[in-house]
Amino acid sequence: MAGNKTLTIIKPYAVNDGYIGSILSRINDAGFRITAMRFTHLNIKDAQAFYAIHKDKNFFDRLTAFMSSGPIVVAILEKDNAVADYRKLIGATNPEEAEEGTLRKLFGRNMEANAVHGSDSDENADIESNFFFSKMERF
Ligand code: CMP
Repeated sequence: MAGNKTLTIIKPYAVNDGYIGSILSRINDAGFRITAMRFTHLNIKDAQAFYAIHKDKNFFDRLTAFMSSGPIVVAILEKDNAVADYRKLIGATNPEEAEEGTLRKLFGRNMEANAVHGSDSDENADIESNFFFSKMERF
């Protein structure tokens, strides 16, 4: 059975450019409940730990440098079928290939600066939620 939770990150340049409100509003309109949220700034080690799954990829150093370059907003989102539905809302990883109306099409610039992260499986949604939030911080 599909899980009901996913983790999102509003990435540094999207925060810097003032898109937090527009992105959260679209997340709410799509029927997701925000059950935990934090404004934070990853250091390089945190970013490397969070993206450890990509450590052998050629874009790892660029990605982790970018993700630690400024403040981000991290949130746990809940609704039925959360992982798949959120991936539909955000669109393809590359904003140029993302469908019209998706968050990455609307707010993304390129592969790294693609506006938001979304968990790719229920298992990773759990791992990623536990990375950022304790039980006490979830509602
Ligand atoms: P995200 O959903 O945060 O998960 C991993 C990130 O790696 C992805 O979004 C992209 O920002 C980045 N990424 C994936 N593939 C590439 C690529 N080929 N080149 C650069 N960055 C990539």
